[in-house]
Amino acid sequence: MTPLDVFTYKVPKVGLTKWDPTHACPLIDGMHLVWLLSICIMLAQMHNAIRNLARQNVRSMRGFMTLQSNLGARSNLSPILPPRMKSAMAWTATFGVGLTAAHSTQSNSAGVAVCHGSAEGGEVATSVVDKEIFRLDYKPSLYNVPEIYMDFQLGASSTILTTTSLIHPVANSNTDLVLDGEDSIKLRSLKINGVLISPDDYKIEEETLRISSRVLPPVAFKLETVVELQPDKNLQLAGLYASGQMLCTQCEALGFRRITYSLDRPDVLSKYLVRLEADKATFPLLLSNGNKIQEGELPEGRHFALWEDPFLKPSYLFAVVAGNLGSIHDTYKTTSGRVVKLGIYCDKPDVGKLDHAMYSLKQSMKWDEDTFGLECDLDVYNVVATADFNMGAMENKGLNIFNSAYVLANPTTATDTDYENILGVIAHEYFHNWTGNRVTCRDWFQLTLKEGLTVHRDQWFSSDMTGLAVKRIADVRGLRSRQFTEDAGPMAHPIRPDSYISMDNFYTATVYSKGAEVIRMYRTLLGDDGFKKGMKLYFQRHDGHAVTCDDFRAAMADANGVDLAQFERWYSQAGTPVITVSQSYDASAKKFTLTLKQRTPSTPGQKQEDKKPLMMPIVVGLLSEKTGKEILPSKVLKFTEASETFVFENVMEKPVLSLLRGFSAPVNVEQEQSDAELAFLMAHDTDTFNRWDASNRLSTKVILGLAGKQSVDDILASEIPQTYVDAVKTSLATSANSDAALLSLSLQLPDLTTLATMLAEVDVDKLVAARNHVKKALARALKSEFERVYAQTVHKGSYEFNSAETGRRRLHNVCLDYLSTDLSAASAQRSKKQFDSANCMTDRLAALAALASHDCPERDQALEQFYKSAEGDALVLNKWFGIQALADLPDVVARAKNLKSHPDFLLSNPNRFRSLLTNFGMNMPAFHAADGSGYKFVSDSIIEVDALNPQVAARLAQSFSQWKKFDSRRRDLMKAELQRIISTPTLSKDTKEVVARCLK
Ligand code: BES
Ligand code: ZN
Repeated sequence: MTPLDVFTYKVPKVGLTKWDPTHACPLIDGMHLVWLLSICIMLAQMHNAIRNLARQNVRSMRGFMTLQSNLGARSNLSPILPPRMKSAMAWTATFGVGLTAAHSTQSNSAGVAVCHGSAEGGEVATSVVDKEIFRLDYKPSLYNVPEIYMDFQLGASSTILTTTSLIHPVANSNTDLVLDGEDSIKLRSLKINGVLISPDDYKIEEETLRISSRVLPPVAFKLETVVELQPDKNLQLAGLYASGQMLCTQCEALGFRRITYSLDRPDVLSKYLVRLEADKATFPLLLSNGNKIQEGELPEGRHFALWEDPFLKPSYLFAVVAGNLGSIHDTYKTTSGRVVKLGIYCDKPDVGKLDHAMYSLKQSMKWDEDTFGLECDLDVYNVVATADFNMGAMENKGLNIFNSAYVLANPTTATDTDYENILGVIAHEYFHNWTGNRVTCRDWFQLTLKEGLTVHRDQWFSSDMTGLAVKRIADVRGLRSRQFTEDAGPMAHPIRPDSYISMDNFYTATVYSKGAEVIRMYRTLLGDDGFKKGMKLYFQRHDGHAVTCDDFRAAMADANGVDLAQFERWYSQAGTPVITVSQSYDASAKKFTLTLKQRTPSTPGQKQEDKKPLMMPIVVGLLSEKTGKEILPSKVLKFTEASETFVFENVMEKPVLSLLRGFSAPVNVEQEQSDAELAFLMAHDTDTFNRWDASNRLSTKVILGLAGKQSVDDILASEIPQTYVDAVKTSLATSANSDAALLSLSLQLPDLTTLATMLAEVDVDKLVAARNHVKKALARALKSEFERVYAQTVHKGSYEFNSAETGRRRLHNVCLDYLSTDLSAASAQRSKKQFDSANCMTDRLAALAALASHDCPERDQALEQFYKSAEGDALVLNKWFGIQALADLPDVVARAKNLKSHPDFLLSNPNRFRSLLTNFGMNMPAFHAADGSGYKFVSDSIIEVDALNPQVAARLAQSFSQWKKFDSRRRDLMKAELQRIISTPTLSKDTKEVVARCLK
């Protein structure tokens, strides 16, 4: 019995005993050491050939192992002596430089230096310099790790993990082996080729385990570590942690190093074999990546399962789940005939809420086959829902782990938006199986390679499922609100960042949403067929590899025979480009001339004058001013210069320009447009997106016009333009025969965050007053229309999730929202009636939202009823907290503080925490309360949660990112809070990085 059996356990071998997986991997005995080393030599020689073989076809892993073992069994290479384990020697600082890029010492900046001051801001207690990591410092790993065997003895308070890795030095570098590992790991023992290594020959540093080159064999060797973990103490929710009674993992980006010492970087791809052992009553379910190849009972009520993932994968895709869960099962047959077993798991009481997730998964699988010819490559695809999760969901190979908010749904607990989100997030994680897992990222700076691309794929899928224009409008609203805001503040960065301190801070709207826009631009420039050709070449070239954004761009360019060199600037320049437009029509020459100029405003570290023009598709159409009909259908202009003129011939009449159709590039357009022109486009543009955008521009123009008045009193005394009222009236009049979802979107006013991005300095009071005033004035002027449409869209029959029904409900609830602005007793009754008679969460929550901003008896009744009927359902309670945090009432700060003391508030649960705090941070009047109480409430909460969960704290800290744009009083108050946060002793590097960037 030899340790190599770990890697060849399934293969019949000459002269070797079959390894029995019901027992943990045995230690090597001295007798086998010489034999082992001869195998190692052979492996080193074979390594490149084997790796290439594995890369050519990752499905041939079984062949790979057979090859390895057969050769091993037959080979008769002369054994070499093991490197002499040096006797006890004091650990000196003579080790060489770090081995991995992640530990490169050649950073070209010192990082963010932060002094920890006392609470009074006096003396400096400690000085910490967090290391900044640079994209250009990337170096390939000096080691490959072809195989990893992990044996877990699982327990919530103590888990013992034995990890055996086969490590291949790429070249004889004679440097220390520096493994990533954090203080969540307690090392119990370390062996190389079965020989115990003395603590004198390794060193545990803050974030690494450094093994001296003295004890490293020059050829392939086996490293075995035994570590202890405490999952129930892990409140960061990264690594192995307890969620309720379940144990689960989260490894992206750098969570694997919280589980075991490893080369935790996405370009080290390994084959994993995972043995899970646990008490059967507590953890009857044991899951990991890939296929369960063995399971069995053990003495003392224990059991085990052995999981083999046939694919090479980076450590961030590793996953384990152990628990006592309910589940539903189904199968999916791929076009080529593979039958994939599908399982979705959650807490037992929630199993009735899994059907929509299963439907979403099967639709996603079908769509990827139909659209890209991409089939599921797995025999088993499992999805697990957990209540404690930092993000939305995670694409671990064959074992996705989801925030339960993106899995569980039934009509009485989930809104239409929840149903849509589940569809989109299930699809997103499934699509990663190709874009992310089969082809992964070389380093974390390339994150948008997988995320931007996969977001674009999920957006495309959702628009095919639920309606192109509606989905596009929702995506652009999100982009403008979140990403444009980020681009205009201290956190602005290119979609492929140049440096980071905490990678977790770079899962941003820019990497994701702007990244998806960049992918969408390839598609617009190349056409759907050209884009698909590019994708095909990308997989042909890079399947099984860890690659870069440049590789993706090259595949798109080469597959289409085009030059996309200039397009690279989208990856390196931050900021939202601004396009200015001038146009003229020459009636005698029948020529229409359009001149576009582009500039990109300065962002941290990048001056406007240094930014170069970007290549972008501008989709335009021309409409007849007289008839409203289309003169020129959509045409893609390739815009590449700082200033460029496009001439349209044979234009028989003076046209109305419809620019940036479908929002063909993620830019801001500065274009003088009269109210009348916008009203014309609202009514006639043949591009549905632009019809909506015209209404949005007109609303924006009206609101910002009012916000520019001298005082709040002046705003309240103003009339809103009649053209605007008439345009809204016209669209409401078409309600019976127009798309309800689109109409509801055109009635929704732009949100305050998006409006704020358009102002050089934000006067909160005026901006809020202006938006509210416009809403109330429209409601007053069009009351009977809103009442008519409200009545017309009332529900009949039971809940159904489809585009027609979600559209109808949306329109119904937008009308309710307008009608509620008068804060009358009749309105309170209307909302309460809807609340009581609603047949689904969508209508019930909309009614509750209307009441939440209305200080009336019905408000308290409805909130109480809602709370009671939630019966402890976590996702419903989150809605209850969220709706109150978002209310428009004068004393929301006090109310939110009370809610934080509510017995159901949980600091340690990210969903619950965000339902109160993130929503409060987005409530502009409350967060920016003039006395600074909103700021203090949020910063106290940041400091508090940072001690448990830095990722959650760092995200909330971004509520302050726009502080420089506000009036001087608020600016000072916010700055003081930021300073208070950063002077907190023991503040995490995540939060420190965000706050330091804000203060810079
Ligand atoms: N890979 C991410 C999830 C992730 C990233 C988890 C970093 C932990 C740390 C996943 O594919 C993802 O992008 N999820 C999104 C949802 C998606 C629909 C955009 C998320 O979690 O927000
Ligand atoms: Zn993703």
